[in-house]
Amino acid sequence: MVELTLPKNSRMTVGKTWPKPEGATNVRAFKIYRFDPETGENPRVDTYYLDMDACGPMILDALIKIKNEIDPTLTFRRSCREGICGSCAMNIDGINTLACIYGLDEVKGEVKIYPLPHMPVVKDLIPDLTHFYAQHASIMPWLETKTNRPQKEWRQSIEDRKKLDGLYECVMCASCSASCPSYWWNGDKYLGPAALLHAYRWIIDSRDEATGERLDDLHDPFKLYRCHTIMNCAQTCPKGLNPAKAIGEIKKLMVERTM
Ligand code: SF4
Ligand code: FES
Repeated sequence: MVELTLPKNSRMTVGKTWPKPEGATNVRAFKIYRFDPETGENPRVDTYYLDMDACGPMILDALIKIKNEIDPTLTFRRSCREGICGSCAMNIDGINTLACIYGLDEVKGEVKIYPLPHMPVVKDLIPDLTHFYAQHASIMPWLETKTNRPQKEWRQSIEDRKKLDGLYECVMCASCSASCPSYWWNGDKYLGPAALLHAYRWIIDSRDEATGERLDDLHDPFKLYRCHTIMNCAQTCPKGLNPAKAIGEIKKLMVERTM
């Protein structure tokens, strides 16, 4: 192991540097955040080296290779490996994104990987999303109806269905909320871009019959109005969605109902 030095007063512990793969000619370094709150030790950044000629093309391929072949204690979430489950969100080279659909070739030089910022860490690259999910649940993410249930299904015109495009695709990865300064500072009360995008998805659904109730609930100085249109959410969303636009649409509806 090679010992690195850290600045005085650093709250990080010196990380481990693992050996380079023998005989490999195409080697790349990965600097990965490590933290296990249960040990009581400070966080550290470990350095791993991979033979890129024997690695898949995505960041998640590299993480799986490190876990399988070098360090089984490295901890991260993943499931679908195709950008659908939202579980592999992390900060890669300064960008919140999904490791399974982010190509290694999109990063220059050494690859720096951290958990989503400004969230408590369960372990290594796994953020604690308990509060994030509770906020999502608070916007009633389901079809709320008052009229009698139809015999077959709730019907919707093609035009009304189209209004859900750009909203229903959200995979709840939390990349947007974790990139939003307003959410960093007021995340206890501000719902954040992801929950608000979902709120709008149900407000705008022609089949939903609780629009007034939904808007009443969001009419709050913090829940909705802490969005200052910084736009980090739209810039970082790995699914190409625009939560800031959805938030703007909710604000417009708030104004319209007072006219
Ligand atoms: S809007 Fe995009 S970044 Fe935000 S949770 Fe949904 S998929 Fe993730
Ligand atoms: S593993 Fe499912 S989105 Fe990455």
